[in-house]
Amino acid sequence: MDAEAAIKARRTHKQYGSTPVDGETVRELVDLARHAPNHKLTQPWRFRALGPEIRARIEELAGEKEALKLRRAPTLVLATAALSGDPHVDEEDLHATACAVYAVLLGATNRGLASYWRTPSCFTEEPVREALGLGPSERVVALIHLGPPMSEPPPKERLAVDDVLSFLP
Ligand SMILES: Cc1cc2nc3c(=O)[nH]c(=O)nc-3n(C[C@H](O)[C@H](O)[C@H](O)COP(=O)(O)O)c2cc1C
Repeated sequence: MDAEAAIKARRTHKQYGSTPVDGETVRELVDLARHAPNHKLTQPWRFRALGPEIRARIEELAGEKEALKLRRAPTLVLATAALSGDPHVDEEDLHATACAVYAVLLGATNRGLASYWRTPSCFTEEPVREALGLGPSERVVALIHLGPPMSEPPPKERLAVDDVLSFLP
């Protein structure tokens, strides 16, 4: 699958098969993320593949309703941005980390994996942050869900190119 095909084929998946994505594949996906553009090579992204112990702890802290959602995918990778405190640099670093997350989603799509960019609110709460070992300057950008696809979600309706593109004279 080439890059354009992966961009068009990627979907948000909320149902997954139970087989976790193996560690080597997770490494390959994060290796793709490392190539994302980032100003002054700050390389602000940090990724944590969540194992069973930390997942159980987060589910406990998040409560049963949220835990059900957190169990949807067999593999969860938390993407954060390590920020400096400078507002301009931080804005750029958040954008760069979003690009890195997108690279993971596209790489997953290319490998036939289902994926989902989710931002659960519990990941901004102190007990969950503490359990994950997040420093005060780390911002959660995505809880990336990965796993075998169980369905083929249809494409969502999008604005047409002409609605979002203008050529200025
Ligand atoms: C920054 C960001 C945060 C998102 N957070 C959530 C979320 O918390 N819950 C959710 O259901 N979808 C979330 N999504 C996924 C979007 O809802 C999804 O991409 C959108 O509906 C378009 O569908 P598609 O991904 O299948 O094209 C997020 C996407 C982005 C880029």
